[in-house]
Amino acid sequence: MLFRSQFILHSSTKLLKGFGKNSTALAFLLVFLIFGGHIVDAQPGPARLTDQQVAAKVEGLLKNMTLEEKIGQLTQIPGGMMPSPVKPEVRIRKGEAGSVLWLSETAKINQLQHVAMEESRLRIPLLFGLDVIHGFQTIFPVPLAMAASWDPTLVEKAQTVAAREASAAGIKWTFTPMVDIARDARWGRIVEGAGEDPFLGAAMAKAQVRGLQGPYLGSPEHILACAKHFAGYGAADGGRDIDSAYIPEELLRDVYLVPFHAALEAGVGTFMSAYMDLNDVPATGNRFLLHDILRTEWGFRGFVVSDAFSVRDLVSHGFARDPKDAAYRALTAGLNMDMASGTFAEHLAPLVKEGRITTAAIDAAVRPILAAKIRLGLFEHPYVDEARAPQVFNTPEHRQVARLAAQRSMVLLRNEDQTLPLKKNISSIAVIGPLADSKPDTEGSWTVMGKPSEAVTVLEGIRKKLGSGVRVEYAKGPNIRRDIPSLFDDFSGVPKVAPQTPEEIDEAFNKAVDTARACDVAVMLLGELANMSGEGASRASLDLSGKQQQLLEAVVALGKPVLLVLLSGRPLNISWAAEHVSAILEAWYPGAEGGNAVADVLFGNANPGGKLPVTWPRSVGQVPIYHAHNLTHMPEASRMFRSRYWDQPSSPLYPFGFGLSYSKFAIINLQLKPTQPKLGQPVEVSADVENTSDRAGDEVVQLYVHQESGSASRPARELKGFERVTLAPGEKKTVHFTLGKKERSYWNGVHKRWIEEAENFDVWVGADSTATLHGSFTLNP
Ligand code: BGC
Repeated sequence: MLFRSQFILHSSTKLLKGFGKNSTALAFLLVFLIFGGHIVDAQPGPARLTDQQVAAKVEGLLKNMTLEEKIGQLTQIPGGMMPSPVKPEVRIRKGEAGSVLWLSETAKINQLQHVAMEESRLRIPLLFGLDVIHGFQTIFPVPLAMAASWDPTLVEKAQTVAAREASAAGIKWTFTPMVDIARDARWGRIVEGAGEDPFLGAAMAKAQVRGLQGPYLGSPEHILACAKHFAGYGAADGGRDIDSAYIPEELLRDVYLVPFHAALEAGVGTFMSAYMDLNDVPATGNRFLLHDILRTEWGFRGFVVSDAFSVRDLVSHGFARDPKDAAYRALTAGLNMDMASGTFAEHLAPLVKEGRITTAAIDAAVRPILAAKIRLGLFEHPYVDEARAPQVFNTPEHRQVARLAAQRSMVLLRNEDQTLPLKKNISSIAVIGPLADSKPDTEGSWTVMGKPSEAVTVLEGIRKKLGSGVRVEYAKGPNIRRDIPSLFDDFSGVPKVAPQTPEEIDEAFNKAVDTARACDVAVMLLGELANMSGEGASRASLDLSGKQQQLLEAVVALGKPVLLVLLSGRPLNISWAAEHVSAILEAWYPGAEGGNAVADVLFGNANPGGKLPVTWPRSVGQVPIYHAHNLTHMPEASRMFRSRYWDQPSSPLYPFGFGLSYSKFAIINLQLKPTQPKLGQPVEVSADVENTSDRAGDEVVQLYVHQESGSASRPARELKGFERVTLAPGEKKTVHFTLGKKERSYWNGVHKRWIEEAENFDVWVGADSTATLHGSFTLNP
């Protein structure tokens, strides 16, 4: 009971503090007030220990451990999915495993924990890890969508819910947040991160760590987070998943490492190494990353787990000679735990016996793992209450957070003649497309525990919203499917899509057009199936696959209002739609409440306020594309600038930070104080944002900066501040930002250090990365 009260008190106090800032806080508070009675008592949490107490406990354990038991702590074994020659119980009993992954059933978790606690010599509890990426049982929008909310409070809340459900099930560690910057929409895993920008990425990384871990490691109903994939995975050549990444140190430090460092500042307990080569050295054996930067420079004190099988795969890279060499290189590079490959388990002991690896090095690798288990309270509370777990899952208040998250993450890209919001007094509506009524594709990929049956599709959401008074007709249109199947299709449980004959395709196509013809309005649900996006889901084309483009054109040709709702994990080629379709809403994969939330937005119960976390290309030929590019010798603004492609403008279809609303806003009155600061002295920036329409809505006020000259060229614009504000009709607010030393410094490749230079700076504040409200200041020595 005490914990329940603390939970409510903690949440409410935080919410009240955030009250003035935006309506999310208010919405959350209402959710808690309405549903507070349903909150299930939390399981007891551990006592919060000091560093000294933890260290003493770790040393006490270490001194009794054999070499094999220590290596066991460095070994994570698969508990499900992958067949293993030796049963997990056998290895756990012998102390050969410290962590288990890919297991999500509470009873099985307790059962294996029982083996560790009752049948192993030292009774060191297991740490169960799982990919709880966008929700455990209550599925939230995918991470790219959550970033599109530009609302860290909401993101933190969603991960708080995810942590609560996962911990109730016995999962105390998740491989989240994925904080890889991605500037190439071909890369399938762009959906798992926060997009292209380090500033936005850092804010999302921090919010997720706070949500998952709570105020400290071991907070009740929270779990251990993991910043992944360290580092540079998003820069894979050609957007091909796991291909090599070549990133100069300037870009690495200024862009790719920034969200990782933010996660560390937020106290993230673990990191995961990446699969790919970074500048020719595989990340799992990359001492520069794992030791020099992470431990020495940043002072990270948690532990690093490899990505799955990547220790063994140091051999496939052509890096390690054999698996033993792989174990040697990974451990000496700074890796603590081998995920699933069994290479540490097999080869570390011989390496120690040969004197190539010291016992001190093994101890150093084990310490932070034991420390995490102690802090999480696993020694005192190794088991979870199996009866309680289901009461925590998918509760009405969790679903309400998911619905709000979906509403707030959608981005309205086009709305000609105020087509949206739709009036409910239409007599008929056609809901068309391969994504209109698919539950798994509404949730998106990486929903390990989400039950697709619990998801609400857009068709269902619209039907519920309109009731029986309006005729809602549905036609799927031709199927879409991957040309090359996904590795994960066999695990995902999603029914496979069989190829259709040309006759079947024609029939489905014509039926869809006829359905649209028979209705007043057509809502087209197009985009990508969940398995077309995510891990192992890179693509060479960004076009709407299958017959979707032709179907869209045929329906638009009917001359009725057409609303395109995209479900996708990346920007797609919608250049035609951007000229011919009345309204376009990017709903991403909106999660379990997605269908309700789309209906809320279409019919004006929610006002879209999401903004693009990525620059939206006109076609695949433009990628990689991102807003913070350098000016070049002939910038866009110069009179001489000619498009750098002769067959397409160089500008994107939609800029980074872009998104429309049903309201109208004016951003005015930019103030900078002082305008002649000294190095190190902060500049306070403010601007007024006013809702000039008669509808309440949200605007994301964004601050961009450019350093005009210096010892290196600087990007044309860099995001350095943002705030999502909710405004009643006619309401005006002043937003404040601080441009301090941190925001003005960059990693300088000439001087090989972080540097703040006494130069002129441009500042823009506005509603996207093309903002025109301009000011400037000069930094003085
Ligand atoms: C992915 C990781 C994930 C791990 C465990 C790997 O294939 O790259 O992101 O955390 O599997 O499921």
